Amino acid sequence: LSHRPRYRPVPKAELHLHIEGTLEPELAFALAERNGVTLPYATTDELRRAYSFTDLQSFLDLYYALMAVLRTEDDFCELADAYLTRAAEQGVRHAEIFFDPQAHTARGIPVAAVIEGLCRALDRSEQQYGITTQLIMCFLRDQSAESAMEVFDAAQPFLHRIAGVGLDSAEVGNPPAKFRAVYERAAAVGLRRVAHAGEEGPPSYIREALDVLGAERIDHGLRCLEDPGLVERLVRDQVPLTVCPLSNVRLRCVDTLAGHPLPRMLDAGLLVTVNSDDPAYFGGYADDNFRAVREALALDDETLRRLAANSFRAAFLDETTRAAYL
Ligand code: HPA
Ligand code: ZN
Repeated sequence: LSHRPRYRPVPKAELHLHIEGTLEPELAFALAERNGVTLPYATTDELRRAYSFTDLQSFLDLYYALMAVLRTEDDFCELADAYLTRAAEQGVRHAEIFFDPQAHTARGIPVAAVIEGLCRALDRSEQQYGITTQLIMCFLRDQSAESAMEVFDAAQPFLHRIAGVGLDSAEVGNPPAKFRAVYERAAAVGLRRVAHAGEEGPPSYIREALDVLGAERIDHGLRCLEDPGLVERLVRDQVPLTVCPLSNVRLRCVDTLAGHPLPRMLDAGLLVTVNSDDPAYFGGYADDNFRAVREALALDDETLRRLAANSFRAAFLDETTRAAYL
């Protein structure tokens, strides 16, 4: 009998999580079988061996290819249930979940199947998993501005299920300003706004996301460190940055976890949070990321508590709920 107390992950909010990036190989094969989709891999091990990325695009190619197995409302519900089960084990109490409707509508899957499937799982999440949730609908920045507008139109009947909009996919060459019009419409109907910026793209994309899109939170934001004036602004305005350490290593935005700029960002006074991005692909969920940075960067307990507190500060929570977490 062990008397060692069971490890308890620190309670936290997950603010940068693509639900399609939680598709584990086992579920991918099960859904492929059910939906009669043939995957170009014979086994889950063979698929896992393909998870060796050189940059964002090399990951995105596999990420979009594997989504072919997601076809029905039930599939999206199962995907979200599987994520919430793992998130609960990892101390996640609140999750703001990205989804990529264009990656599904482009394959003939109606946006209703995506949102209603996800919501079926999310609607029982607080009861079943002790996790409150919100949905953030992302536009694919490597698709046209017109395509973003079309999916925003298609999502009209479901906007009451959506807390905000985001911007993801291949960053370089697809600056935030391309999506000014659809973000203006989102703002006009009271949606929150976030955007991936400064993952592979330059610091100017972070400024543009703030100035042109009205982004309230920046996803990744790593490359702000190249622009001291921008860092000063992000610190002054306490703009949250949703950093994803394991993702950054796997997509080679940083060379090693031990060399990750997270401590420098904290020291600068930035409101940084630690998140998992695409945990099925990058080697870990929320607390896996917390434990990885604790080890690699020798973070003390106080710093880990600060990161957890930051996650609730940066979340789109009402002030009563936020206060209960802080
Ligand atoms: N960056 C951009 N697009 C994405 C990512 C990411 O880290 N994950 C899923 N889509
Ligand atoms: Zn992301």
